[in-house]
Amino acid sequence: MVSTVQILAVAGVVLLIPQLYRFINFIWLYFLRPSTVHEYLHHPPTYALITGASDGIGKAVARELYDKGFNLILHGRNEEKMRKVADEIRARGAHDVRYFLADASAPSHDFARMVEPYKDLNITLVFHNVGSSDFTKERIDEQNESYVLGIAQRNAIFPLLLTRALLPKLRLSARNGPVLVAFVGSQAGDISPPRFSVYAASKSFLIALTRGLDNDERVWGAPTGIRFEYLAVGQVQSNSLRVQASLSSPTSERFAKAVVAHLGCGWRRYAPWMPHAVMQWAMEFLGEKAVDMFTAQAIGQMLEEREKKD
Ligand SMILES: NC(=O)c1ccc[n+]([C@@H]2O[C@H](COP(=O)([O-])OP(=O)(O)OC[C@H]3O[C@@H](n4cnc5c(N)ncnc54)[C@H](OP(=O)(O)O)[C@@H]3O)[C@@H](O)[C@H]2O)c1
Repeated sequence: MVSTVQILAVAGVVLLIPQLYRFINFIWLYFLRPSTVHEYLHHPPTYALITGASDGIGKAVARELYDKGFNLILHGRNEEKMRKVADEIRARGAHDVRYFLADASAPSHDFARMVEPYKDLNITLVFHNVGSSDFTKERIDEQNESYVLGIAQRNAIFPLLLTRALLPKLRLSARNGPVLVAFVGSQAGDISPPRFSVYAASKSFLIALTRGLDNDERVWGAPTGIRFEYLAVGQVQSNSLRVQASLSSPTSERFAKAVVAHLGCGWRRYAPWMPHAVMQWAMEFLGEKAVDMFTAQAIGQMLEEREKKD
């Protein structure tokens, strides 16, 4: 006869197995796994395309990839700033650095024309970094429509349509070796804080897009060799977020090293910065109600502090 204690013990073990599996994956991803980014350096000259590369995380990742041997195609919106960054990176070595300009918030672009100059290049890495959200007190019905659309445009639609235009080219590159498309997401996409609903929804869109495109290229017919991943990003010190650097808010440079170390790790959705993964786990543990209350308080404080400064 099986006792209640035995049933509870078995249930406990069964419930613990997924947590144990998650813990083992955590140790492997953040402490043991060697970087495999060099696998994307096949059939040189090899190019990495990085959007929003004139500042913050994008600029730091561009520098990191350049130092690893990639030629670069950078994207920005400000010619002078972009040229300066391209020159600064070129001075670090002998690889090619090109750039193009486009306002990612603008409603329409000719994406085929945008990527035309790069059609003969071997692009093996795409880092969709462009994005941001302004931090405002207003609710969406107090903001004008083009402002609201601009948030969705730069965070979701621009990366979607740029990927669409690049895909035929990427499939050709993938005949020679692996190709990776990474979307920079945000923890906001998981917790949708007040005043960030459109930004959070746009990042959530990227979560579904990553999975869908990865399935398109991997399990629908013969695999093409292109993989997709979504990076869950917490606070990072950057041009748009001028916070004190700390363990939970690394500088863009430290963060970029972690990004490049994890690119192509095989996880479709992960946090490149280990403390962000711990925070993610803590938020899941606390549950929606507590997280909603906590983020509302934190955002209220941030708004107050900003108003004091202004
Ligand atoms: N920093 C964080 O705490 C944090 C947290 C979660 C997620 N993220 C995500 O990380 C990514 C990078 O953020 P970041 O903090 O590094 O920002 P950042 O320092 O402000 O840099 C953003 C980059 O994107 C460019 N950019 C912004 N809007 C653009 C537009 N409409 N058209 C073309 N280029 C545009 C900027 O160009 P300019 O140089 O001309 O401004 C800059 O190169 C974003 O997707 C963001 O959502 C950041």
